[in-house]
Amino acid sequence: MLAGGKGTRLRPLTIHTPKPIVPIFERPFLHYQLDLLKQVPEIDEVILSLNYQPRRIEEIFGDGSEAGLNIRYVVEPEPLGTAGAVRYAGESLHESVVVFNGDVLTNVDLAAVLKLHRERKAKATIVLTPVENPTAYGLVETDADGNIQRFLEKPKADEITCDTINAGIYILEPDTFDRIPKGEPWSIERSFFPSLIERNETFVAYVYRGYWIDIGTPEKYTQVHRDIMDGRCVAAPFASAPGSAWISPNARVEDGAVIEGPCYIDDGAVVKAGAKVGPYSVVGRQCHIEEHAVIDRSILWSSSRVSQEATVRNSIMGRHCHIGRSASLDNGVVLGDKSVLTDFSRL
Ligand code: GDD
Ligand code: MG
Repeated sequence: MLAGGKGTRLRPLTIHTPKPIVPIFERPFLHYQLDLLKQVPEIDEVILSLNYQPRRIEEIFGDGSEAGLNIRYVVEPEPLGTAGAVRYAGESLHESVVVFNGDVLTNVDLAAVLKLHRERKAKATIVLTPVENPTAYGLVETDADGNIQRFLEKPKADEITCDTINAGIYILEPDTFDRIPKGEPWSIERSFFPSLIERNETFVAYVYRGYWIDIGTPEKYTQVHRDIMDGRCVAAPFASAPGSAWISPNARVEDGAVIEGPCYIDDGAVVKAGAKVGPYSVVGRQCHIEEHAVIDRSILWSSSRVSQEATVRNSIMGRHCHIGRSASLDNGVVLGDKSVLTDFSRL
């Protein structure tokens, strides 16, 4: 699992929380990926390849026994890029390796990908998924038999020739790793994959048309919450009741507060009389939403206070923020942990 990036596009949220553990409904993101890996009994060990704030991640997952997996950590002394990280973490491996970008959420059937990889006796198999605009991803062209013909990372608008992109999930044969130079930054997308094509290796595609998202920008991070709330992506806690208002039994919603689903209100949160939590909102643990405050289409991590008559719309707030009385936030505001907005401020 490549989980060493700095998560720059999610700053300031990722200043104290590395991207692999940003919360999705207050659950560290990597849990969702580990759930997928757990469905494949053949996966006997998970290696988390880390660089940025590794301790924070290790503290959460430990040896993996709680998650029902065997987890090991490999921390790069400095970022080695996506291929350098694979070589560094995979040095001692002799069996096929599943490589996963640490920021994608999907329900792809990994066992079926492995099966294709074996049937085709491939050196590498990558999962592709169609998207509307490939410019933020790695564009991948294939032939009619699913052989990869071209890999173009972050194509310009006039370079787009198809809609299939690299979904960030690969199966690789470790005997290819010695082509990655040791100890220097190397990109799997820009160097390793093109080199497989140049050498005419068996490099095949598994096209997946189901749910897939990269959570690495505030827009996509927000989108994944909406997709789970609406049931487009089936995941806890909305798996059995998409569209509902999920309110923890340990939250306190006062009489006269208005809650409109789909939304999520976590343990210890308090929503005071006259306050409103509107659709597509997430109110994290121990947040206080005071009288006549409004939360609408926004995600609040834990322990923030939104004071009386303040409104928070279309925004994301890190932990321990304080929004003063009658302040208002709208239109894509992203606040880092411990932000303070004085009374009547507008952002
Ligand atoms: N260990 C380690 N070391 N991990 C790294 C490093 C590194 O130096 N650099 C990046 N990563 C991890 C990130 O944490 C992330 O989980 C993953 O590698 C991919 O990096 P991103 O920075 O998120 O890349 P991207 O989203 O722009 O593009 C990649 O993902 C797309 C799909 O989401 C590429 O693989 C694209 O081709 C692909 O389409
Ligand atoms: Mg990404």
